[in-house]
Amino acid sequence: MIAEEKIIEIRERASIVEVISDHLTLKKAGRNYLGLCPFHTEKTPSFTVNEEKGIFHCFGCGVGGNVFHFLMRYEHLTFPEAIERVGKRYGIVVDRQQRPEARREAEEREALYRVNERAAAYFHQALFAQAEGRTALAYLKSRGIDEGVARRFYLGYAPRRGTGLAGFLKREGLSLDNAVRLGLVSERGNHDYGERFSDRLIFPIVSSAGRVVGFGGRVLGEGLPKYLNSPETPLFRKGSNVYGLYQAKEAIRAADRVAVVEGYLDVIALAQFGIGYTVATLGTALTPEHVRILGRFTRNIIALFDGDEAGRKAAARSFEIFIDAGQLGRAAFVPKDEDPDSFVRARGKEAMEVVLDQATPLADYAFSWLENRYGTSLEGKSEVAKEIQRLLSKVRNPFEADLLARRAVDSLGISEDLLRRSAASLGRRGNEPEPKKPAPPALRSREDLAERALLGLILRYPSMVSLLAPVEDIETLCASHWRDMMGRILTEWRASGEIDPGRLTQSFPPDQAAEIAALMLEGEDVPEEEREKALSDCVAHLRRKYLRNLETELRRAIRIAEETNDEKAKRERMLEWQEVVRRERQLDRQRLAAKTHSP
Ligand code: UTP
Ligand code: MN
Repeated sequence: MIAEEKIIEIRERASIVEVISDHLTLKKAGRNYLGLCPFHTEKTPSFTVNEEKGIFHCFGCGVGGNVFHFLMRYEHLTFPEAIERVGKRYGIVVDRQQRPEARREAEEREALYRVNERAAAYFHQALFAQAEGRTALAYLKSRGIDEGVARRFYLGYAPRRGTGLAGFLKREGLSLDNAVRLGLVSERGNHDYGERFSDRLIFPIVSSAGRVVGFGGRVLGEGLPKYLNSPETPLFRKGSNVYGLYQAKEAIRAADRVAVVEGYLDVIALAQFGIGYTVATLGTALTPEHVRILGRFTRNIIALFDGDEAGRKAAARSFEIFIDAGQLGRAAFVPKDEDPDSFVRARGKEAMEVVLDQATPLADYAFSWLENRYGTSLEGKSEVAKEIQRLLSKVRNPFEADLLARRAVDSLGISEDLLRRSAASLGRRGNEPEPKKPAPPALRSREDLAERALLGLILRYPSMVSLLAPVEDIETLCASHWRDMMGRILTEWRASGEIDPGRLTQSFPPDQAAEIAALMLEGEDVPEEEREKALSDCVAHLRRKYLRNLETELRRAIRIAEETNDEKAKRERMLEWQEVVRRERQLDRQRLAAKTHSP
């Protein structure tokens, strides 16, 4: 926890242009500064920074926010780390006032990391500096792994079972209890410790922040189990760590893509052959959490599978995992009977890159897998349509959902009509109200134009909030995605009489902060004399939309009441419906009047 005043002090002291200029070149252009966006590849600058408001926004890819958001994204820092970083640049010392339990927890974790890190050093040095390591080095050689890449991944060797590691940790003054918690050793009896890894090649698993969270150990040659991994510990969960991310970070950023493979040795082989943007899952299927972690670095995630039946099936399955994490994902395949390791060694870097360049959307595999499963009979198609609709309902971005629907229609010969009908049956089961779909990320949405226009107006011309404040139900009128934002802007304005972009972007999660930055920076200047009219047009539009939706809902409710012979409900809904229609007419009349009166 960092004190709120400290955060404000740092934000106000910092120049966003200065901080961003530490990392890229900005040029002044009118009221803003422009540069090439570091978060996507572009040739003409659309990355915009506004010093006065303390925000940035890329018109190309939509990222944005305040100075802390920039560093969080660019340097992959947490929020407190970003604050500290900016503080440091301006000579402001941040002391994190932690609750005692939080501090104790942090200290405990630190002690665990220390044990892992010393153990990694022990293994590493056993591999390279000790006689015992010779067989392991010979094994590495037989696998074609050169020393440079072995050192880069900090590979090691766990000597044949003994008390070497336990003794080493003890001599370093570290707690063996912690080593037990980390699964490195187990206590066999009174102060007698056995080691987990014996005569194995060691792959330290490093978090994206560069801390050792666990280990994988491979037998030298044949033997079972082939790999032994750290158990789940307070530092290590398989489903939320990927192997090689720390080493791959820079390459992922540079290539703006990441290849996800299955094995430690695949990562190492690809890295050795110059494809550094590779990571591996840890002997588990890909999880949405993996995808989310990788999504912080690039939106271009390519899952690289084996070219066999199992690989295709895995590709089909991972589609849902990707959309659960808000991504679409692509798949590439190495030829049958190869894995990325053998493939890159046999065919070289370029051939591997060609495979990756040819990656196709996971959706394609998911769709054709469904077709195989259900067949192309009428019934089969209807099952496929239902299943696709279920998947597409999870896609938050309406453009993407649209695109995917069209893909399904094209590739499966399912009629759009069938897809839509299964959407309807999915949306409404019996008397249940329609499930609320998660709101689309507004930036790329064609919908919600009025909400965006309205928020844009008051964010750019804050004095206009006073015109909006009397519209009591304005929040209700906004689509759910915008309601909270509208509400907080009004609250902030009522409380302080102003809208502070810095504070506002701060109070929202990064995605919404980016939207706010976008709304503040994009759009043409609206001449002063037209602003009021623009605002009331937006409100009227929202109100009409709201009434229209209400009317549809009521009509549906009336029909259900009719079907279920619920006379009372029917009567009530009818009255409500009439009232809504009356208000709609009234709005129309007002609009007409406004039209005939204006020149
Ligand atoms: P692979 O069997 O493909 O291993 O398992 P690999 O990494 O390609 O190694 P080589 O080339 O056979 O030597 C893929 C991944 O699955 C996990 C490991 O993370 C491994 O890298 N795995 C595999 C286990 O955790 N335990 C096992 O027994 C086998
Ligand atoms: Mn392999």
